[in-house]
Amino acid sequence: MKVFEIQNQFGIENLKLAERPQPKAGAGEVLVKIKAVSLNYRDYLTIIGQYNPRYKLPLIPGSDGAGEIVEIGTGVSNFKVGDRVIGVFAPKWKSGIPDFDQLRTTLGGPLDGTMTEYRIFSEDGVVLMPDHLSYEEASTLPCAALTAWSALAVESKINPGDNVVVLGTGGVSIFALQFAKLMGANVIVTSSSNEKLQRAKELGADHVINYNEKPGWAKEVRKITQMVGADHIIEVGGAGTLEQSLKAIRLFGHISLIGVLAGGGSNNLNLFPILMQNIRIQGIIVGSKASLESMNRAISFHKIAAGKHFGKVCIKI
Ligand SMILES: NC(=O)c1ccc[n+]([C@@H]2O[C@H](COP(=O)([O-])OP(=O)(O)OC[C@H]3O[C@@H](n4cnc5c(N)ncnc54)[C@H](OP(=O)(O)O)[C@@H]3O)[C@@H](O)[C@H]2O)c1
Repeated sequence: MKVFEIQNQFGIENLKLAERPQPKAGAGEVLVKIKAVSLNYRDYLTIIGQYNPRYKLPLIPGSDGAGEIVEIGTGVSNFKVGDRVIGVFAPKWKSGIPDFDQLRTTLGGPLDGTMTEYRIFSEDGVVLMPDHLSYEEASTLPCAALTAWSALAVESKINPGDNVVVLGTGGVSIFALQFAKLMGANVIVTSSSNEKLQRAKELGADHVINYNEKPGWAKEVRKITQMVGADHIIEVGGAGTLEQSLKAIRLFGHISLIGVLAGGGSNNLNLFPILMQNIRIQGIIVGSKASLESMNRAISFHKIAAGKHFGKVCIKI
């Protein structure tokens, strides 16, 4: 079978198409013909050696993937040949609070990922994908979508009418916009592109702000929220945007710290508001299998993410 693998050393120039032997499903395992893989910023960082330079090589990248079960091993009881499934990003993390090994054992490093024609999963390592989605759409769920779900539905509770700010229009953020709308929130989206902001409006964004035109976008959030501030912020920028997020959040508000896209940031970030305003900053790291299943139930019931998505790039295998 064909695979993409990072060969002897990290670097995009070392990502090569290679041949590996076709695997067979053993006891308790399923063989999945991968149909689609969606790209995450993490996959890029992994390939260039910045995510975890200690990952063993050669390594097949790819955190997300969807495909069809083509063979089942002995003792598999929950799946049959022909089932359409997605991989669980952290297959050992079933629910609740994981231990270090459960949290760190993830697809696309240190485990081989999804950029392969076939992949063996343990029976526990896949879940059925929502019926109404294509393979490409479903491949975006295990990492980006689950991260947004964990932020809004697991680690905090959004009430109808809450003001939620979503930074940018990447994969995580576009899912966060859709989930926050599902929960009845008033959603404010920021982007560097007016065209993308228009598309965010079509997906339900109530207010939009161009963060290039308004680098002090926290002021705009204050105006939109009658000076109160946002109840919740999906923070994918990290150090480079946290200062604005701290100015935009309300007293006792909740910031989900998810990404580092804006890098850098000032070295003298004022942390005082965090304590004086009782702000909760919650780190988010994807999510458990149980959360993936509850998110899929919500996506299936509300038929969301079908065809309208613009936050992800996918590869058909
Ligand atoms: N913690 C976790 O579990 C977890 C899981 C998944 C992802 N992540 C992290 O979360 C971040 C987002 O991941 P992703 O897959 O959604 O990335 P992505 O799809 O590559 O997101 C790219 C978008 O981010 C936006 N962006 C960049 N700089 C920004 C800034 N200064 N302010 C606001 N938006 C900005 C841009 O939106 P516009 O083009 O609209 O300006 C850009 O198009 C990454 O750092 C990733 O590593 C973390």
